[in-house]
This record gives sequence, structure tokens and C-alpha cells, in this order.
Amino acid sequence: MSILKLNKVSYKYANGRNNREVIKDKSYKFDTGKLYGIVGKSGSGKTTLLSLLSGLTKPTSGQVIYNGENLTKINSADYRARNCGVIFQSFNLLPQLSAVENIVLAMDISGKKFRQSKIKLAKESLAIVKLAEEYANKKILHLSGGEQQRVAIARALSIQPDIILADEPTGNLDAETQNDIINIFDSLAHQMNKCVIIVTHSPEVAKRLDAIYELKK
Ligand SMILES: Nc1ncnc2c1ncn2[C@@H]1O[C@H](COP(=O)(O)OP(=O)(O)OP(=O)(O)O)[C@@H](O)[C@H]1O
Ligand SMILES: [Mg+2]
Repeated sequence: MSILKLNKVSYKYANGRNNREVIKDKSYKFDTGKLYGIVGKSGSGKTTLLSLLSGLTKPTSGQVIYNGENLTKINSADYRARNCGVIFQSFNLLPQLSAVENIVLAMDISGKKFRQSKIKLAKESLAIVKLAEEYANKKILHLSGGEQQRVAIARALSIQPDIILADEPTGNLDAETQNDIINIFDSLAHQMNKCVIIVTHSPEVAKRLDAIYELKK
């Protein structure tokens, strides 16, 4: 059984241009242990699709099914806090808090029980994304874009979700950092058995994907 499914999902912004459907009748399936890409031109609906998969947006018609259950029937804030780690295009980290504090906050909000101290687990997540230890207690404000990207991924991981959604996680990064980040997503899917779904324009990322869904305008 696929962990996440779109069943004939359409979506139209209430205030959208020409009253058109941004997402039209999509039925996609996502399994654990795989790395998926969502591709398409700017404005084709990639971010909108992630927003539907994360429960931030409700379909105009059709269903998003998580573990056999309609997402509209479960509390979508709980779903994001516990089951589905989201990495936003703009990171959404709190700039005045440190890397570790940002992660511990997400773990607190999840309401999950963790077997070890949250600070220890936060540091483990930062180690997975290979952020040097010296940055763990620095304010986000003082980190580079690539370092913030790693913290955002570590935060998504820290809640131990089954699903990870990422919106253009390698945009604005140099080739070497981009490669590091791709390797992280690859191992999340293929070693840690998570369902990883990333929006990407990058041909380098595309090479590593198990499946691609393309959106057209
Ligand atoms: N809040 C909104 N209200 C109305 N229309 C919106 C809203 N957000 C996005 N849209 C429109 O929906 C379409 C799809 O937007 P979306 O952000 O999903 O595209 P995208 O594929 O992620 O683009 P990009 O590659 O530029 O990030 C666009 O035409 C956009 O203008
Ligand atoms: Mg987008």
C-alpha cells in the first residue's frame, strides 16, 4: 500500500486567475523507500501540489490519502508535526534561535515521545546533514544559505516522519553543496526508508530520482 496517494485531486485558488484549476485531476502514488521528483515550469503548480500533500491546502475535489486515511479526516497540523516533515522554499526557520533550538522546538510541537533527550537527537539530525558541530548553537541569522538549508532538513528529520517534502531544496546552492544535499535526500529514501518528495529544476537531482511527476501549465 502506498503511504501517500492523490486520488483525482484538483485544486483551484478561490482568487485565482481565469478561475482555472492549478492542479487538475491528478492521481499519484508515493511509496516509502523512494525518492520522487515533482517537476514543471514556473507557475505549473509544484508548490501547490506540495501544499496539498502536506495538508496545508485542501483539494477542491478528490482526496489526499495518507496511510489509507483521507487527510481531511485527520488533523493536518498533527500530520505535519508527526508524520510529514516539510522543508519550505524559504526554510521558515526562526532567525533569532540557534540551529538546535529550532529543531527542539519542532520536536516539542510534535508532541511525540522520544527515547533520548531532544537536544541529543537534534544534534544527531545535524550530524546526518553534516552540519559542523560548531554551528549547532549559532543563531540562524549567522548561518549561510547552504547551512540554513541543512538545518531545515535536520528539523524535518528530527520528528522522525515517514514522509519528507522539500520545495527546491538545492536552489541557490553551489555545485558541491548541492551534491551533498542530494546525497542526504538519497540516503533518507534509500537507507532510512522514508518517502521523499522533492520539487526540483535540477538535472543533477533528476538523475537520482526513482520516479518523476511532471506538471504542465
Ligand atoms: N495564493 C494564491 N492565490 C492565487 N493564485 C495563486 C496562489 N498561489 C499560487 N497561485 C497561482 O497558482 C499557480 C501555481 O503556483 P505554484 O506556486 O504552485 O507554482 P510553482 O510550480 O511552484 O512555481 P515556481 O517554480 O515559480 O515556484 C500560479 O499561476 C500562481 O500564480
Ligand atoms: Mg514553487
